[in-house]
Amino acid sequence: MPGWTLSYDRFDPDQEKRREALCTLGNGYFATRGAAPEATADDVHYPGTYLAGVYNRVETVVDGYLTEYETLVNAPNWLSLSFRIEDAEWIDLRGMAILSYRQELHLQHGMLSRAVRFEDAQGRRTRLTERRFVHMGCPHLAGLETVILAENWAGRIDIRSAIDGTVANKLVENQPGAETRHVVPIDGEALSNDVVWLKVRTSQSRIEIDVAARTRMEAEGNRHQPECHEITHPDYIGHVRSAELAEGATLVVDKVAAIYTSCDPAISEGGLAARQAVMEAPNFADLLASHITHWGHLWRRCGLSLADGHVETECILRLHIFHVLQTASPNTRSRDVAAPSRGWTGEAYHGHIFWDELFVLAYLNRHFPDVSRSLLLYRYRRLDAARRDARRWGYKGAMFPWQSGSDGREETPPAYANPRTGGWIRDDTRLERHIDGAVAYNVWQYYEVTGDLDFLNDYGAEILIDIARFWSSIATYNEELARYEIHGVMGPDEFHTGYPGAETPGLSNNTYTNVLAVWSLCRALDALNRLPTWRREELSEQLNLHPDEIQRWEDVSRRMRIVSFGDGILAQFEGYERLEELDWDAYRERYGDIERLDYILDAEGDTPNRYKLSKQPDVLMLFYLFSNEELSELFERLGYAFDREMMRRNIDYYLQRSSRGSTLSRVVYAWIVARIDLSRSWTWFNEALRSDVDDIQGGTTPDGVHLGAMSGTVDLMERCYGGIEARGDTLRFDPHLPDELPRLSMRLLYRRCWLDITVTRDRLCIHAAEDAPAEVKIRVGQRVERLIPGGRIDTSW
Ligand code: BGC
Repeated sequence: MPGWTLSYDRFDPDQEKRREALCTLGNGYFATRGAAPEATADDVHYPGTYLAGVYNRVETVVDGYLTEYETLVNAPNWLSLSFRIEDAEWIDLRGMAILSYRQELHLQHGMLSRAVRFEDAQGRRTRLTERRFVHMGCPHLAGLETVILAENWAGRIDIRSAIDGTVANKLVENQPGAETRHVVPIDGEALSNDVVWLKVRTSQSRIEIDVAARTRMEAEGNRHQPECHEITHPDYIGHVRSAELAEGATLVVDKVAAIYTSCDPAISEGGLAARQAVMEAPNFADLLASHITHWGHLWRRCGLSLADGHVETECILRLHIFHVLQTASPNTRSRDVAAPSRGWTGEAYHGHIFWDELFVLAYLNRHFPDVSRSLLLYRYRRLDAARRDARRWGYKGAMFPWQSGSDGREETPPAYANPRTGGWIRDDTRLERHIDGAVAYNVWQYYEVTGDLDFLNDYGAEILIDIARFWSSIATYNEELARYEIHGVMGPDEFHTGYPGAETPGLSNNTYTNVLAVWSLCRALDALNRLPTWRREELSEQLNLHPDEIQRWEDVSRRMRIVSFGDGILAQFEGYERLEELDWDAYRERYGDIERLDYILDAEGDTPNRYKLSKQPDVLMLFYLFSNEELSELFERLGYAFDREMMRRNIDYYLQRSSRGSTLSRVVYAWIVARIDLSRSWTWFNEALRSDVDDIQGGTTPDGVHLGAMSGTVDLMERCYGGIEARGDTLRFDPHLPDELPRLSMRLLYRRCWLDITVTRDRLCIHAAEDAPAEVKIRVGQRVERLIPGGRIDTSW
């Protein structure tokens, strides 16, 4: 299917781990990397199965200090399936002559297939065809079908199908010496000829994971039940079954697996649930059919099509939507999980939750608002942990962690390894207090897009109030300047951790943080105004919120200090202009790839803190989050000048000083540049688009896809090129179509109303679904119209 299939036509051991991450199949409850079923973890393959939100904590020594960290757990491998012919070794493609090879990820159907023809050392030619899925509708189930055709041989074939609990977390070696085994076998057995079951428990979090599998096989021409041997090691349970194959005959092996954990609702015990699920499950073909139906329903909510000639772009965008939905899907709704920065596709960043969610929720809000709501509840449930952390640091309100896991405490490790030196670099990113701004932004965006006042009432307002409290308490008043300031923080640019030579980390008046603080305070004030009186009173009593505190929010939000220098350049932080210029050309010449200047400078005994440089957009993030109109309102509130030219100058200034060391950078640059130079934006967009399919960072995709960049590219297509902004109970349109993209169509949900939108070079057409519950307000240019159910707006722009 053009535009719907990611395919590989060669077995390439060097690329295997990247493909495994890209071809991960998941359903928001669990995900399994696209590793070959016969593979175990080695230098080429890395099978991984991750359950959303299943973490485990272990102790380790980092840079000489005993510390602990929490990581996403690699769960037992349900996929494990191998075969051998006569007395040969168990199959390993690396030892075979491969005659043909094709691996395909079918995005529309959520299915991964592999078709290989190979010849072994004895000249036996075999055709192997596999299909697999992780069921989108029955979130505990997955299936693998294997068809083996004996092309030019006849003889015995042994099939080994197992649940492999010998797994460990070894994909990313970023905690040298740390314990990698997180699961301990508890129970399990081979129940009958076709069902096996294994129960493990995570070593610290004590979550029981039950995996059961049913394997059935049918050999053409075999009238007898195949011979069967059990394998029952404590952490590896399976069957070996043998059959005789005639030349030209096929063998079909159908494996269905079920996974449950002790955190699941509506079960009495995981083992029982898993065994029952596989025993009662339909066969592979029927399960696949219902799985495809479920994907069909999801795709209907994600309609996005581009002008002719963009099939490949559409395909990659669909791959990105696919991964977003495999990370957070309707199955996520009842679960206490959020969207980790690398999806559930690998072990990078230990599966932690960062501000990257901002890029993911922005998309989900318009297509699966109920899923966004559920992800926001993850933060709500961790408000107490954030309040505790704020208190510990001497602040009020809630201070969300930079890296979050199961209980909402700060999970940022104290140091990270520098691959250039093998040494450690201190990790101060926990000072990225702007994470609170990201949580507030996510709450408010969700509310703006959905108008879900119940959410604001029950959860959102409380989050916003506690975030406002935090900003108000971290802000200190500078009498001399009659302005509020924020000290001791880091901005999104992680290369600057502090002032050159300073003993303690942290920077003052990071513009991004200060503006986001102001914006969050304003939204908390807005939220209070929108609540019905009874709820406002309840919350005020519950949270001890007094009028003088609200007055302070007003005051801080009008008198926050924004530092600028030169010709209206917003200072990344106070004192930035006094840093040295880096000799970019010399570094590019010396090192080629200078994306990770932190590694390079550290290896030289230097530090990025001395220079005017950045890993990723910092000040420029403001132009990504806010329209010019909203920014100028914010600056006006603060009594500072802001104009379009200022934006242009800031973009020029900071773009020249960025190493683009994060995949999020390209999404943001493509977005902000769209307002001044669309063709440059298109170039950035295309780079962002290829972040994972081409692994443009040269080796990070195998450890997990970059969910923020994936979601960000789709969001960019819809919101930036489509020019959509949901603000003030109105859906505003201001399209920016690059020349290369003469048409863009999308379907999205705004305030419970499905809208079909088509933007061309000069026209904008918006059609509201007949069954929309109410009219919505649409603004195109300065004109505001009310779009009634079934109504249409067709206008020039
Ligand atoms: C980026 C952060 C991001 C994190 C997780 C880092 O490399 O600098 O902005 O949150 O990766 O994706």
